[in-house]
Amino acid sequence: MAHLVLSGAHDESSALPRPDVIADWMRELATVGYTTVRTTAVAPANAARLTHVGFTQCQALDLLSLVIDDSIVEQPPSDLGIRSVLTVGRRLLPRSARRLEDIDRRSFGDEWSLDAVSLREAVRATHVSTVFTVGHGQPHGFVIAGHTRGIGYIQRLAVAPDHQRRGSGTALMAVAYRWLRRHRCSQIVVNTETDNAAALGLYAKFGFRRLPNGLSVLQRDVKTVY
Ligand SMILES: CC(C)(COP(=O)(O)OP(=O)(O)OC[C@H]1O[C@@H](n2cnc3c(N)ncnc32)[C@H](O)[C@@H]1OP(=O)(O)O)[C@@H](O)C(=O)NCCC(=O)NCCS
Repeated sequence: MAHLVLSGAHDESSALPRPDVIADWMRELATVGYTTVRTTAVAPANAARLTHVGFTQCQALDLLSLVIDDSIVEQPPSDLGIRSVLTVGRRLLPRSARRLEDIDRRSFGDEWSLDAVSLREAVRATHVSTVFTVGHGQPHGFVIAGHTRGIGYIQRLAVAPDHQRRGSGTALMAVAYRWLRRHRCSQIVVNTETDNAAALGLYAKFGFRRLPNGLSVLQRDVKTVY
């Protein structure tokens, strides 16, 4: 499965490539052996445009936002082993990338996990970004956070199933919040599946509110001609 990164398509006003360009991409993907292609999260108007060229929705996402203010968000206790793992030039070293990939696969499952290449894309999706891990020795959870033009984004958050429900997700969100506040962001935006009770519960604890329009992930068979 190919991952189609439509930069900016979460924003209604962004332009999508023309249908003939998308058709060219599909032919190219088929030539190199892909059978299906899945998009990044896109806004409703862009989802509608993509359905005209053969894509169908495979995931509905809630878009949530939180205004950053002066409320006290405590630094997580040091015994949780929170660490920053990005090196100079926003590089994820191969060993860190493999660990993140492993946590991501275990927490999101095979169908929805991201590989190391896509995790690096998530790090580079915003102008400035950071990655924190939780856990001593081998980390068991991570968050990728970043910001562009004063808006902070939680790009990825995962805690391995055998460590969930013990405060790691809260600790990762707290360090991400504090980092984004230090970087003078005015708000934080995150998306999550409409039925992801764990993530929705965690974000609600921080005060995130659901925005009126959600996002969609779409998918299509690369060989079908439209
Ligand atoms: C969402 C996730 C990161 C939470 O991590 P965690 O370490 O379990 O979170 P915490 O232990 O800090 O829990 C914080 C709050 O989240 C909510 N929560 C966590 N797990 C929950 C569950 N299974 N059901 C309902 N609410 C849950 C609760 O409100 C909880 O607070 P409480 O323990 O005081 O009730 C984790 O479940 C995960 O990795 N899930 C799979 C990947 C994912 O969905 N990532 C986020 C997508 S954007």
